[in-house]
Amino acid sequence: MRKEDFDTAAGCFPDVCFNDIPDLGIILGSGWGDALKMDECLVRIPYSDIPMLGQTTVQGHSGEFILYRLAGRLVAAWCGRRHFYEGEGWEKVVLPIEILRRMGCEKLLATNAAGGINPLLKAGDFVILTDHINLVGINPLIGTHVPEWGPRFPDMTDIYSRPLIEKLHAGARKLDLRVMDGIYAFTSGPCYETAAEIRAYKAQGADVVGMSTVPETVFAKACGMQVAAVSLVSNLAAGIGHAPLDHSEVIAAAERAKSGMKALIEDFVARI
Ligand code: HPA
Repeated sequence: MRKEDFDTAAGCFPDVCFNDIPDLGIILGSGWGDALKMDECLVRIPYSDIPMLGQTTVQGHSGEFILYRLAGRLVAAWCGRRHFYEGEGWEKVVLPIEILRRMGCEKLLATNAAGGINPLLKAGDFVILTDHINLVGINPLIGTHVPEWGPRFPDMTDIYSRPLIEKLHAGARKLDLRVMDGIYAFTSGPCYETAAEIRAYKAQGADVVGMSTVPETVFAKACGMQVAAVSLVSNLAAGIGHAPLDHSEVIAAAERAKSGMKALIEDFVARI
């Protein structure tokens, strides 16, 4: 990854974005696009106006950066993400984290839609990530070491922050949402998994499977941020449910879960 490219991208953000340190950075994944409640919107920038990021190509990702206030907190939100499977490299995937880092932001909440592997999960449940398994075998930190991005060999032992996990649980309890802790298996996509792959991931300890989040959380943790991540179970993974998998199912499940997502994020912001 070339640091100079990030300099160009950072240069297109208005100064107001760097005046005050956001209390929280958020990445909204598939279907989470409408999940923000705001008291005041300060800045909106479409991704197409951010060099190096470009328009997200995935349905259900709106593609907009928003700086807003809620409950006295300043929040920097990325509505929609770029994925490794879009084939345009890592820079676009982790650029949102690099911009948050440059803003001085120290906390990240990443969200996604995922397939449920654990038999206790149903579509519409939330899973708070306690750990992940990177099945892609490659890593956004590969390349020239940039000291600002943390040590050459960053520790990932407790990548998902216990205090932030507790805040998500407290919110879910208050809102009476079905949640469980779980381990996320990260696959490259874009095809869904085979049933045999899902059996193998289950044997390895995965509870949910998806095609995102891990590049951003690894990069953020390496940079020293406190990280939390939540999956919406949009479908049962291949061979767990018996229906063929389809992205429209992911979007439809997110639509049904919208009020829960919105309330969970609102509550989390207030606890930060
Ligand atoms: N597999 C991988 N990624 C996903 C899934 C799935 O079943 N559902 C939503 N994203």
